[in-house]
Amino acid sequence: MATYRIRHCERLSGEVSIHAAKNAVLPLMCAGLLTREPVTIEHVPELTDVHTLLEILTDCGACVRRDGDRHAPVSTLTLWSDDPHSPTSSDLLSRMRASVLVMGPLLARTGYARVALPGGCAIGQRPIDLHIKGMQALGAEVQLTPGSVTLQGRLRGGNVYLDFPSVGATENIILAAVLCKGTTRIENAAKEPEIIDLCTFLNAMGAHISGGGTGTIIIEGREALHGCTHRPIPDRIEAGTILCASAMTEGSVLLRGVRADHMRAVLFKLSETGVTLRESPAGLRLTGRASQPVQVRTLAYPGFPTDMQAPMMALALRLRGTSVFLETVFENRFMHAREMARLGASIRIEDRIALVNGGRILAGTAVTSTDLRGGAAMMLAGLAAEGETILRDPCGHIARGYEDLPGMLNALGAVITVEETTDS
Ligand code: EPZ
Repeated sequence: MATYRIRHCERLSGEVSIHAAKNAVLPLMCAGLLTREPVTIEHVPELTDVHTLLEILTDCGACVRRDGDRHAPVSTLTLWSDDPHSPTSSDLLSRMRASVLVMGPLLARTGYARVALPGGCAIGQRPIDLHIKGMQALGAEVQLTPGSVTLQGRLRGGNVYLDFPSVGATENIILAAVLCKGTTRIENAAKEPEIIDLCTFLNAMGAHISGGGTGTIIIEGREALHGCTHRPIPDRIEAGTILCASAMTEGSVLLRGVRADHMRAVLFKLSETGVTLRESPAGLRLTGRASQPVQVRTLAYPGFPTDMQAPMMALALRLRGTSVFLETVFENRFMHAREMARLGASIRIEDRIALVNGGRILAGTAVTSTDLRGGAAMMLAGLAAEGETILRDPCGHIARGYEDLPGMLNALGAVITVEETTDS
């Protein structure tokens, strides 16, 4: 468990470097199940989700070498799998949703996969029906039992249409199809930058994937894949979170190592609040304090990312007037609103719509992290609140997806202290 003490902050300025993207690194790690030759992922962020997935992959028979440690500037991860098999620990699998991504590689490599139905943040039901539909399209037989799913069969190329451009389902199907004899075509595929990064990584391993980042991805299966070395893309959600924090205060913040082209929807929305954004070879700079209320509709990429909804709502607390949020991707992703109300925020929730009556004075008090991005949003809200805000994070949500959010904010002038306790 972690507890954060956040002091009111009126000015953030300086520069920070953005870490590699959690949602890129996790699928890349699962690709380590596909080959006997070592794959190396550089600049791996220090996240509990990375550690949890390492445990799961080891449980699946992967060999893992991690160079560097928490304090090393670069942490390099090398993985390979001589004899992969299904995980034995369902407890591990239930601790994070991305664990479902071992399904595709195991099925492609061994013709068998038995995985627990995944866990993850409580932001919605989060089924895996599209993952299973994809595996069936590649010829797998599926048996659902309470709490787990078993798939088996010799896979071959096939065509699948995704009813929703699911990021995870797109990744799982690609991770299976790269070793399937024949051609696989995914229609209505997710277009997120993390999909492109996975396709780049797999093609460097000898796969033959085209259309990554478009709605139609075509994979020509290969007999075997080989090793490679890859530096993942920067974390567009970590970058957006820091930009929202900066826009809540007077100041000027420079983000180094960020891909502005991965963040167009977020940058446009931030510009609508009245801040100035400037791209240069040095990085992406945000200047000024946000003032104008916004209307945000979350969508699949390239729309406004659902993972940025909560941090943007924290920013909206500072915007005089009513901001409107429509959450179209997950059915329960406003849990942070009730914690913001404890600070004195005025937010009205109607199903998937949140109306934020911003510009009110907020008073620091004890609040709780409800999920990964909600917890980050509460850290930002604490910067806006008068006095001190105590943010309890009993499940360690924030450390799952941010290497050092308090440290990054403190480097920009915030005063956030962290108390790690063992009790949960
Ligand atoms: C990925 O989750 C990300 N996680 C999420 O980030 C992100 O919010 C999400 O994509 C959307 O961008 C990782 O990459 C590890 P989806 P994923 O499959 O793959 C429904 C964070 O904060 N759906 O695109 O689980 C699902 O219920 C996390 O970093 C089905 O109905 O998301 C949801 O409503 C949170 N059936 C919608 O699609 C399926 O088989 C989007 O899910 C799969 C998904």
